[in-house]
Amino acid sequence: MPLLEARHLTKTFSSGQTMFGAGTSGQVRAVNDVSLAIEAGETLGLVGESGSGKSTLGRMVLRLIESDSGEVFFDGHDVLRAGGAQLRRLRRDMQIIFQDPVGSLDPRMTVEQIVCEPMAIHGTDSRADRRRRAAEVMRAVGMDDSALQRYPHEFSGGQRQRVGIARALVLRPRFIVADEPVSALDVSVGSQIVNLLKQLQRDFSLTYLFISHSMPIVRYLANRIAVMQRGELVEIGATEQITTAPQHPYTRSLLAATPEIEFSSR
Ligand SMILES: Nc1ncnc2c1ncn2[C@@H]1O[C@H](COP(=O)(O)OP(=O)(O)O)[C@@H](O)[C@H]1O
Ligand SMILES: [Mg+2]
Repeated sequence: MPLLEARHLTKTFSSGQTMFGAGTSGQVRAVNDVSLAIEAGETLGLVGESGSGKSTLGRMVLRLIESDSGEVFFDGHDVLRAGGAQLRRLRRDMQIIFQDPVGSLDPRMTVEQIVCEPMAIHGTDSRADRRRRAAEVMRAVGMDDSALQRYPHEFSGGQRQRVGIARALVLRPRFIVADEPVSALDVSVGSQIVNLLKQLQRDFSLTYLFISHSMPIVRYLANRIAVMQRGELVEIGATEQITTAPQHPYTRSLLAATPEIEFSSR
């Protein structure tokens, strides 16, 4: 049984602020009948140009965006129909890392408040235990625990991303959606974060849905790659197969637009 399975997920946004002007219905089919499965311990890379529906799909599997139709199963549990205690348990197991995870938070929050907040929300542990756990995850992401008493703006983009990862890890999830986690970072800082994510996957037995528009990074991290175009999943397969023998013309065009540089660990 896969750890995560999405079946026939569909989401249409009706937007007054559509970019396409007159003549359109004002409806965007952001995700159209997408089905995929992710095995425990693997990284599924999700690629596609901007606006293809990657973020919407990532949030739908976590139930951060309500699906119009379809089903999501996590470890056999029906995510979209779960309620009460079962939903709370599922939410602990499934976390997200954003492009700038702490940039969207209250700047008056200390790093400790940021990292501890998910534990406070879920009411886990005593205050002292939360503090200890926060220090533990900070070390796991390569930060000194003295950082806990400081504020996000005191840190670089790469360090802020580490704080965001610590926050995502603090409830000991099994599954993480990483939505363009290094897109806002320069190449060398980004590669450190990519390698951190790889290390954490081993240390914490994590399963990733890794969203990116960078083929070299996805090729480096992912066991399999899924390709989205205009809300549809046009191709999915082993990384080797997708990158050397793509079947869909859109995948070929994405690869053709990819510089020949290899992503490497530095
Ligand atoms: N909250 C929203 N309201 C209206 N349209 C949205 C909303 N979120 C996303 N969209 C639209 O859905 C499509 C897919 O967006 P998104 O999932 O963000 O793509 P990606 O992450 O691949 O760039 C785009 O056309 C986008 O404009
Ligand atoms: Mg996106």
